[in-house]
Amino acid sequence: MTSHNDQPSPMTFTAAPALSGSVAVPGDKSISHRSLMLSALAVGESRVEGLLEGEDVLATAAALRAMGAKITKVSAADGGGGRAMGADIRRDDDGIWHIHGVGVGGLLQPQEALDMGNSGTSTRLLMGLVASHGITATFVGDASLSKRPMARVTEPLSRVGASFTTSPGDRLPLTMTGACPAVPLDYTLPVASAQVKSAILLAGLNTPGITRVVEPIPTRDHSERMLKGFGADLEVEVQADGTRIITLKGEAELKPQNIVVPGDPSSAAFPMVAALLVPGSQVTIANVGLNATRAGLIDLLREMGGSIEIINAREVGGEPVGDLVVTASALNGVEPDPARAPSMIDEYPVAFVAAAFAHGRSIFRGLDELRVKESDRIATMATGLRAIGVTVEELEDGIIIEGSGGQPLPGGGPIATRLDHRIAMSFAVAGLVSRDGVTIDDMRPVATSFPTFTALLQTLGAIA
Ligand code: S3P
Repeated sequence: MTSHNDQPSPMTFTAAPALSGSVAVPGDKSISHRSLMLSALAVGESRVEGLLEGEDVLATAAALRAMGAKITKVSAADGGGGRAMGADIRRDDDGIWHIHGVGVGGLLQPQEALDMGNSGTSTRLLMGLVASHGITATFVGDASLSKRPMARVTEPLSRVGASFTTSPGDRLPLTMTGACPAVPLDYTLPVASAQVKSAILLAGLNTPGITRVVEPIPTRDHSERMLKGFGADLEVEVQADGTRIITLKGEAELKPQNIVVPGDPSSAAFPMVAALLVPGSQVTIANVGLNATRAGLIDLLREMGGSIEIINAREVGGEPVGDLVVTASALNGVEPDPARAPSMIDEYPVAFVAAAFAHGRSIFRGLDELRVKESDRIATMATGLRAIGVTVEELEDGIIIEGSGGQPLPGGGPIATRLDHRIAMSFAVAGLVSRDGVTIDDMRPVATSFPTFTALLQTLGAIA
């Protein structure tokens, strides 16, 4: 992943006139990673439409290629098929991806280190895959990823039989050797993490016997849905208290699929909050994934008083999807229940911006996981919000934010984004409702998940 070696790309976002128009956000990042990985393990050719072509997903594609999968992109213009587009809905033509899988158990030893760039999802899920193949692989990443904890996956995957040589603190760079045959795991997740759950399930694919994951707090369930879609023998039992028990029969045979990736709700969060905050706005965001394990921000913003209407609710690729009509609204402070955190875990930075513009105080707690994302998102947001004139108190597990009551935020910067795409985009949104503008120190990280972000803001009339 080269972009982080280039010069920083600062940018200033200033007060915007009312936003209007229809836009679509790029494909879901979580689903894109999984579609490539499962396609790589199916026997035969899978096709993926709407894949997110951000750096994180491209890191997954490169790693799978290095382990033997043949992955090509056929652009619609080359006759690979197109996506029906509404007349006023703009979406990048992502083309269609074709993946020839190697079959479960067929991954080859990569000849060079796998460069994971900024992507924790690529790293942890691919470690799961390698854990039950008799191959050795080295994982490296950028400065942000190299600080993130990996013990949460190395610990369970060691029990599967994989062995690890890690950098101090169980961090990247690390080298692992998978076990073949691996040992099936029965594991209760100690942290609510879809990445850990998915790593264990992916390891279970090439493991004889039954792999069982117990999830006391539900997290995004894209892996379970897609594994079933590819023909894996997987069952989910939901207990009375909400605990989910997932069982997967190993030595699975996956059948190639045609997958359509819905738009990413985590990317839709930015135009959604922008449209709520900029007075007079009304925006349609088309084709947004509405899986209940991901839709927490919509509920939160509605509780704050936000007008978000869901139209054209439908199913795309086994996932609920709809179009969102978002109208500028006066927002009130909130104190959300921490149990809801997994359903909006990546949306807190932009939720904090909404809270900064709301009437009254918001109290967010129970968010320890935010400290180990692409940056420490509690500290990075607290520092940045203070720099643009917002009164905040940083807590060990959260933040208290005094809302401006709908008055423009003073503005300032440059905001230190710390290689974190969602910090950059959150403060870009804050700039749209600021008096003096908000300067972001480096917009390059946005390419990891939302390469069309500034183009989309232009379409809405938010930036020139
Ligand atoms: C993801 C899970 C979440 C999320 C990340 C993507 C996934 O991480 O923050 O952006 O695709 O499984 P955790 O599992 O660490 O909560």
